[in-house]
Amino acid sequence: MEKKKLTGIVGSSRRLGNAEIVAKAIGEGLGEGWDLSLIRLPHLRIQPCKGCYACLQPGMSCNLQDDMAWLLDRLCEADALVVAVPDYILGPVGMVKMLTDRALQALARGTALWKKRTVVALTLGREEYRGYADTALIAQVAGLGLDVVGTECFYGTHPGEAAIAVDFQEKIDHLAGALLGDERASVEYGNRCPRCLSDLFRTHPQGLECAVCKSLAERKDDGSLHFFFFHPEFSEEGQIEHINWLQMKKAEYPHLKNRLKAVQSSYQGGTWLSPPQAQTG
Ligand SMILES: Cc1cc2nc3c(=O)[nH]c(=O)nc-3n(C[C@H](O)[C@H](O)[C@H](O)COP(=O)(O)O)c2cc1C
Repeated sequence: MEKKKLTGIVGSSRRLGNAEIVAKAIGEGLGEGWDLSLIRLPHLRIQPCKGCYACLQPGMSCNLQDDMAWLLDRLCEADALVVAVPDYILGPVGMVKMLTDRALQALARGTALWKKRTVVALTLGREEYRGYADTALIAQVAGLGLDVVGTECFYGTHPGEAAIAVDFQEKIDHLAGALLGDERASVEYGNRCPRCLSDLFRTHPQGLECAVCKSLAERKDDGSLHFFFFHPEFSEEGQIEHINWLQMKKAEYPHLKNRLKAVQSSYQGGTWLSPPQAQTG
């Protein structure tokens, strides 16, 4: 029987670092029926999105020449994905956001990524410096259109150190189980939004509001969170609506162009500082 494809996106430059080891351990946890391929994110050429919305127009594609389209092809052909990324200065390494900023072009591939089971692993040195990294990483991976079904944080500073933690295998089993949907997946997150897995909340008159998907929770006397509202914008229908809204905004532009040009003309110029040979603003 043909093996299924697990693709691991490794967000660290460190060879045999914690993120690489986590991705490989999850591959092993899936068992014989799976093949793991790895992509080292920092080795890709991913340019910043230019904000031109060309990729939203029917028949048009992103005109930046880099590895983004290649990467999207690899994501589409995978049966499941693991994204393992280190925490740098309280957030996930910046290249993940660079990738997600280019995600609108994935829409041209339809909903191919929407049901792609994906687990997200953050590697980090210390809980005290976790910051917003795990939630940002989950949101950025989901922003690519992938279905994030599980997450864990792996602690260790030196390359390989995460794998000698006592709970390493338990976390690997959880993520492998989440990808396969087997009994190992049944971990109670407790303090995370059940829809988007964020653990960042804003205060709200009715309790706590998920900082990512705006679901609402009340805190019970025992400290647990009871979620009672899920914002329709972040349902599958809501996301389709949002794509339609973006396309409407793109279509609206020619009608507003002259008015907006008049506004822009009063803000022309400026003193722009650039390094040698770089283009100015
Ligand atoms: C530039 C830099 C910034 C870091 N910032 C943090 C941080 O804010 N919080 C944290 O817990 N660990 C931080 N770390 C530690 C790494 O997240 C940790 O060593 C992780 O296991 C590295 O994963 P890797 O082996 O896959 O590269 C930082 C490491 C580097 C190199």
